Amino acid sequence: MPLPSTPLHRRLLPLLLAAVACTGPPGAASKPALLEPCASATTCPALLSYTLHADLKLADLAALFAADPLAILAANAIDFAVPGPAGRILPAGLALRVPVPCACSGGVSRATSARYVSRPGDTLGSIASRVYGGLTSPDWIRDSNGGLTAPDGAVDAGTALLVPLHCACFGGADNGVPAVYLTYVVARGDTVPAIAKRYHTTATDVMSVNDLATADVAAGDILVLPLPACTSSFPTFTSDYGLAVANGTYAVTADRCVQCSCGPANLELFCVPAPLADAACSSMQCGNSSMMLGNFTLVMTGAGCSVTSCGYGGYANGTILTTLTTALKPLCPVPHQFPPLIPPPTSSFFETYLGPSPAPMPSEGGIKSPTMAGTAPTASPDAVAGAPPTGRHFSGVFRVLALCLVTNVLW
Ligand SMILES: *[C@@H]1O[C@H](CO)[C@@H](O)[C@H](O)[C@H]1NC(C)=O
Ligand SMILES: *[C@@H]1O[C@H](CO)[C@@H](O)[C@H](O)[C@H]1NC(C)=O
Ligand SMILES: *[C@@H]1O[C@H](CO)[C@@H](O)[C@H](O)[C@H]1NC(C)=O
Ligand SMILES: *[C@@H]1O[C@H](CO)[C@@H](O)[C@H](O)[C@H]1NC(C)=O
Repeated sequence: MPLPSTPLHRRLLPLLLAAVACTGPPGAASKPALLEPCASATTCPALLSYTLHADLKLADLAALFAADPLAILAANAIDFAVPGPAGRILPAGLALRVPVPCACSGGVSRATSARYVSRPGDTLGSIASRVYGGLTSPDWIRDSNGGLTAPDGAVDAGTALLVPLHCACFGGADNGVPAVYLTYVVARGDTVPAIAKRYHTTATDVMSVNDLATADVAAGDILVLPLPACTSSFPTFTSDYGLAVANGTYAVTADRCVQCSCGPANLELFCVPAPLADAACSSMQCGNSSMMLGNFTLVMTGAGCSVTSCGYGGYANGTILTTLTTALKPLCPVPHQFPPLIPPPTSSFFETYLGPSPAPMPSEGGIKSPTMAGTAPTASPDAVAGAPPTGRHFSGVFRVLALCLVTNVLW
């Protein structure tokens, strides 16, 4: 009986081994991410940390997450008063916080749902890791879209997919302090202490929030990180009920008529008319006074400083609710300080502020699957703007590819 052809064997075995070497240990991709169990239908504001894998128009980024382009800018303290923000091209490698409503998916676990129409060459794997930066998994997308059966994860172009993404609420608090949770995909070289430091929290807290027994994390793991936040107490019938804004950032609400900010000095939500508010916005004057949203008056009395302020009370049926409150404080507050805004990032901004040396990492898809990495430089399925991806960004992908090719040759 003839043996199977050895040449074929010789070619296949190294390929297989190289594939294993280049995809990481089997099973790594399916490591269960933290899921916040949930039962109620309540929704909370949450943030997703997302690193652009290619130059991307703000409008296209917003569409990926069904988010408002202005809200994305505001959540990153990027000047949102600039004209035509949605048409701006954001540079590859930029890490942004995307504000999303975090709901209870299937009454089981916390998730936010995005909708994605697949493009030629997409697979469940590339959608999960490249398009959505590892914030979801191929299996989870498959489970959320009943009819997908292709075993290799291939998806016909033009298929409308529901893409569930991890998020967390944890009651809007961390250790009793108001917090907004940021979903974070661990990058190569990340450690829990380094991540904790970057987000001004402690490794212990990150471990306890994520129910980690050890501080071992691997690239692609999903963590949720509590960010100190300002919370609101709007009535439940308002459309922005539960609004919470992370320290140092903004939110745009009430049909873009009102902006609310948090910090830097204190964690009290501070709302004023938004820069783009126009005549179509309902009145922002506090009833029975001449004060507008954000105005306050100080009157020194024998007992202290009487502070009367016109605050925001939520958005209901197209009406901006205002609340006039008077409080007696021992000292008059200093004038309000807003969180600093940065100009919209461009490629040159990125070089200047973050330095060219820590080259952004290629998406996990680029690392894990040589096939995907091979298509990465040309496919850019969601870089609709047509801006070519920067060579710098993809050099990492090529290095990984080269490594895999070398591995193959050596074998
Ligand atoms: C809020 O942010 C400011 C500026 O980054 C920082 O100085 C302050 O400590 C932060 N507050 C909290 C409670 O984290
Ligand atoms: C307006 O202010 C006057 C005088 O302070 C008060 O009598 C009246 O009840 C107020 N009206 C409303 C709607 O708050
Ligand atoms: C009151 O608020 C409006 C809108 O923010 C602002 O334009 C105006 O300068 C404020 N007036 C005072 C006295 O602070
Ligand atoms: C909003 O408007 C609808 C219809 O006009 C009405 O039924 C509802 O009670 C209103 N809600 C509030 C909070 O005013």
